Amino acid sequence: MDSLIRLVCLLMLVSQIYQFVFADDPLQDFCRGDLTAPPSINGLPCKTSSEVTLEDFFFDGLVTEGNTSNAFGSDVTMGNVLKFPGLNTQGMSMNRVDIAPGGLVPPHIHPRAGESGFVLEGTVLVGFLTADKVFHSKVLTVGWMFAIPKGLVHFAVNIGEGKALILSAFNSQLPGTVVVGSNLFGASPAIPDEVLAKAFQVEESVAARIKGKFSG
Ligand SMILES: *[C@@H]1O[C@H](CO)[C@@H](O)[C@H](O)[C@H]1NC(C)=O
Repeated sequence: MDSLIRLVCLLMLVSQIYQFVFADDPLQDFCRGDLTAPPSINGLPCKTSSEVTLEDFFFDGLVTEGNTSNAFGSDVTMGNVLKFPGLNTQGMSMNRVDIAPGGLVPPHIHPRAGESGFVLEGTVLVGFLTADKVFHSKVLTVGWMFAIPKGLVHFAVNIGEGKALILSAFNSQLPGTVVVGSNLFGASPAIPDEVLAKAFQVEESVAARIKGKFSG
């Protein structure tokens, strides 16, 4: 009995700590993030109400088409709390994803959010991988939505004739993005060639060559 009570108390304590650290449940109507302050446990401190302006809650950062003239032929414009502080503590954000014909949003992970996307223009192949390596993918046209579970590797490639445009929504104000290739091969300081060579079962020279593509 004694141990049962102890267990219940422990569970209550754990759940309280969990709520304190991870809850996305704001204690106020809004908390326009003060971008000059460092992020605290789960967001930015609130700007004083008297300093809050209309611009804090409206954001035109996704109006402009991204520049896809790069090696991948894609560009992601982020509308997260760091750009749009009205999102602070609301647990949501959006990205604009422009992809040139043949362009690729390379395999990446959002460590802090699931993603729901909507195809506004073009034809894209969207795919993600489960932890046990099952590959789920589908060709999507205008109007289709997709769901990428939190933390899983995913990508999008424009397989249409024209440009593609996707709007993605996240259940985090700052989902984070880990691009698998550049994370491993473009790290600073660099991961030793022998580690990458062994991990990918290739010669060290191959690992070094791929690193060269991601340096700088
Ligand atoms: C797009 O990026 C390329 C490569 O960085 C640059 O040369 C070009 O001027 C940019 N285009 C626009 C419209 O900014």
